Amino acid sequence: MYDISKFEIKNEPIILGIESSCDETACAVLRGRKILSDRIISSASEQARYGGVVPEIASRMHTEAVDEVCRLALADAGLSPRDVDCVAATYGAGLLGALLVGLSFAKAFAFALNVPFIAVNHIRGHISAAYLDKPDLKPPFITLLASGGHTAILRTKTFTEFDVLAATSDDAAGEAFDKCARVLGLPYPGGPSVQRLAAQGSPVIKLPSALVKNSERLRFSYSGLKTAVLNTVHNARQRGEQLNFADLAASFQCAAIDPLVKKTVELAKKCGIGTVTAGGGVVANDYLRETLSAACRREGLTLVLPEKRYCTDNAAMIASEGLNRYMAGDFSALDVNAAAAIPL
Ligand code: KG4
Ligand code: ZN
Repeated sequence: MYDISKFEIKNEPIILGIESSCDETACAVLRGRKILSDRIISSASEQARYGGVVPEIASRMHTEAVDEVCRLALADAGLSPRDVDCVAATYGAGLLGALLVGLSFAKAFAFALNVPFIAVNHIRGHISAAYLDKPDLKPPFITLLASGGHTAILRTKTFTEFDVLAATSDDAAGEAFDKCARVLGLPYPGGPSVQRLAAQGSPVIKLPSALVKNSERLRFSYSGLKTAVLNTVHNARQRGEQLNFADLAASFQCAAIDPLVKKTVELAKKCGIGTVTAGGGVVANDYLRETLSAACRREGLTLVLPEKRYCTDNAAMIASEGLNRYMAGDFSALDVNAAAAIPL
């Protein structure tokens, strides 16, 4: 009988994390916060042929990869399934069919071993990537979250609670990078392609900032910026003018990232919080990493910046968030379902 009220909480547990919300099938094994292994099988190159993620292909590839990726992660860690104390898996947000693969596998794994199962919110996973970089990190801290689905500045109050201080009212920053890449004819995934092109240009083209001015609440908007990039390309084409795409990419990158960095630092100062962290795929962007590092240094803030591979989707961050919940005894029942959207 699987009874979540009966599980004991161990110190330094072995946590197996599984992530399958989009096009990465990932499994990581942690002992406490220490990463013992971290494997990713990505369908990105297959998806690139279609210019974006095709949900059906993602689900099929997760089904083919999930067993293998977990075997590899356990083997890398030198452990067997019986050594695992807890299984954590993403239940949302993401592609429903993709989520179901990792979630169902994780539930079956936990049930078979009779160990606690923890259903993890992907976004909380991105926040918890910071603990991997600095295992003794303790809340409170301010987090800049910028991924393909979410863009926000959060105040993490405890290991399990946070406030949203600012968020986007339409597209996410990563989504804007992906759309900008498409307009510029760059390959999927868009973020790294735009970054590469931007490195060859200068931010000399005027574009609207992602910061919404004259708003009661602090908020961001990426739809106007995306349209401005599209209009700039169309107008140049109509006038028969030669447009420097590298300059446009660099200008877009600044317009998208500068306000995020500026407001993150301002909010940390305003809240009297001395530590800033960041997470989500866009935080793999070199310009963001450099400008955020410089701004924190200038303001005397401590910055905890996860390695790039722990900013984009991975399972170590899911296991790290699983550890926060495990230590709080906050286990999930096995009837938890996948959710395509979860409010921040
Ligand atoms: O966190 P993530 O891997 O998946 C989601 O949870 O959405 O973020 C993916 C997003 C994509 O939109 C991708 O274009 C963006 O992160 N991204 C980047 C970079 N690497 C990934 N954006 C800008 N610069 C990058 N180097
Ligand atoms: Zn993500």
